[in-house]
Amino acid sequence: MWNIYIVGYMGSGKTSLGRQLAQQLQIPCIDLDCQIEQVQNQSISAIFEQHGEIYFRELERAALLQSFETDRTIISTGGGAPIYKNNMQLMNEEGITIYLNADTQTLFNRLKYGKAKRPILANLNDEELLQFIDKHLNPRKPIYETAQLQLDASLPLPLLCVKVNAFLCAM
Ligand code: S3P
Repeated sequence: MWNIYIVGYMGSGKTSLGRQLAQQLQIPCIDLDCQIEQVQNQSISAIFEQHGEIYFRELERAALLQSFETDRTIISTGGGAPIYKNNMQLMNEEGITIYLNADTQTLFNRLKYGKAKRPILANLNDEELLQFIDKHLNPRKPIYETAQLQLDASLPLPLLCVKVNAFLCAM
């Protein structure tokens, strides 16, 4: 079986879905951000602060390229990974891709409490956060939407897993 790549905006629930699916399918799960933090021995925020975004994007891309060496693994990607260079195209060619599609309001409700560890959002107040998501999501959407399976991120986790399993069975 191929790797499964979960893509979507920050706060769409990629890590939770990845963990749950991995448990059900009895296969390993990698969170690319966590892997980068472990290898670099630094938080994503510290990497952004010390080296800047492009440096982080290259680390993220290197981790993604390395993932193509494995199979039967669920990979939760950071929200910006598909947007950088041809990362999304490569994921589509090398694996199964799932887009967790969430609207601005849903993302705002989740990110309000989870923005601190996300350097792109950390300094925004609530009003700025809502505006930022609204603007930032639009150019990303067409890239996320090239995924092979799109799921509504507001569905309960068990139902999302059922839908993924049905998709995998139909392949
Ligand atoms: C980012 C998303 C984050 C992390 C970094 C940048 C983005 O991952 O990679 O803070 O540009 O969307 P999550 O989507 O897991 O929060």
